[in-house]
Amino acid sequence: MINYQNDFLLKVPSGNLQISDLTLTDISKIDQQVYFSLIIPTYQERDNIKNVVSRLSQVLDEFIPGDYELIIVDDDSPDGTWEVAVSLIPEYPQLRVMRRQHERGLSSAVIRGWQAARGHILGVIDGDLQHPPHVLLQLLDAIQQGADLTVASRHTEGGGVSSWSFVRRFLSRGAQLLGLVILPSVLGRVSDPMSGYFIVRRQCITNVTLNPVGYKILLEVIGRGKVRQISEVGYVFSERKQGESKVTWKQYLDYIHHLVRLRFSTGKLGQFTQSIDFPINRFIRFGLVGLIGVFVDMAILYLLSDPTTLGLPLTRAKIIAGEIAIINNFLWNDAWTFADVVMQQQQWSQRLKRFLKFNFICMAGLVLNVLVLNLVFNFIIHNRYIANLIAIAVATIWNFWVNLKLSWRVTEVK
Ligand code: GDD
Ligand code: MN
Repeated sequence: MINYQNDFLLKVPSGNLQISDLTLTDISKIDQQVYFSLIIPTYQERDNIKNVVSRLSQVLDEFIPGDYELIIVDDDSPDGTWEVAVSLIPEYPQLRVMRRQHERGLSSAVIRGWQAARGHILGVIDGDLQHPPHVLLQLLDAIQQGADLTVASRHTEGGGVSSWSFVRRFLSRGAQLLGLVILPSVLGRVSDPMSGYFIVRRQCITNVTLNPVGYKILLEVIGRGKVRQISEVGYVFSERKQGESKVTWKQYLDYIHHLVRLRFSTGKLGQFTQSIDFPINRFIRFGLVGLIGVFVDMAILYLLSDPTTLGLPLTRAKIIAGEIAIINNFLWNDAWTFADVVMQQQQWSQRLKRFLKFNFICMAGLVLNVLVLNLVFNFIIHNRYIANLIAIAVATIWNFWVNLKLSWRVTEVK
């Protein structure tokens, strides 16, 4: 039974997330090439998948019969989505199914699918019918008119969301605004940069290594691809009828991480960080953890020292708040920023050693912080907030660099 199914499964590509040129790499595939490959990433979509495949086939059979493929990339869903998908292949010969067991995440699923794809035009659509299938025709049409990339958008004429609460709209727009500030050259090019429903010419994204985090694969395509003409088609993001969304608070963190990473790794700034060989990804994670630490520090300072709460003396409260923030940051950094290093040193004594070093270095960082603050404020810029910002930046780089070299370092070689 299992073997029978495995025969139908696509091999999962490995290595770099790079899409190759159809003509250059695998000449034997020429007779198998198709015009359009559409990826459907799935996780726990058992009850949706048959409907999705049948509706998409219906639309595409009419427009480009036999000249397309649907590729479901399932991350080994416990509900057996991939199994249901494989069982549909006899009825839908354009369907191919990939079951990923060693990698996870929406964006990388889409790229793995594109790597296995045989089409000149590559696309992606959600597997839960929140993206209306008929919009595909307009998207394909725009490509035929000469666009490199066409995006189904909620924020252009004919687009919208069906019944989102005020909070959800607010969060969605807030995320977009933040993106515009951090990465205007990418977010500014489309009205709905969060869209997960778009199609792109293969040649625009070949020979670059894509490196996405989280959900927003379109950012990566615009940020790293060679995309000239973009067009948009309005669509209404409908409500889910089956299954549930996989979005959690972690996606918001991933999103910010992704933005900052693109900011530092593309354009002029990217050339600079590459030339000095700075571990930019780790630094971003370290910085995000630091930001969480600031909130922890502030909250505890408030709880302990505010006259309306406990009313402890300021210095005492600050020492406690600072120490708790340091512990907080250590835990995050140990579990996330330096997870790969920690893998090799998991004993409790090693953990404790890392913590003590981290604590010590951060205290030195605090001293440096105060020093720089005073220096800048007294001799350079007489504005306490700008001076503080500069001081925090200097201390963060110090904290990061010294911790990188001392705390999270593989010292005992087996
Ligand atoms: N393979 C794989 N791996 N698929 C995943 C994963 C994963 O880790 N996480 C989610 N998916 C699949 C889901 O099964 C679904 O088909 C699709 O990706 C979207 O996931 P949802 O959880 O339904 O996301 P959503 O509807 O809240 O979010 C969507 O927001 C945008 C609105 O602009 C995004 O996914 C966009 O595609 C959408 O356009
Ligand atoms: Mn959805």
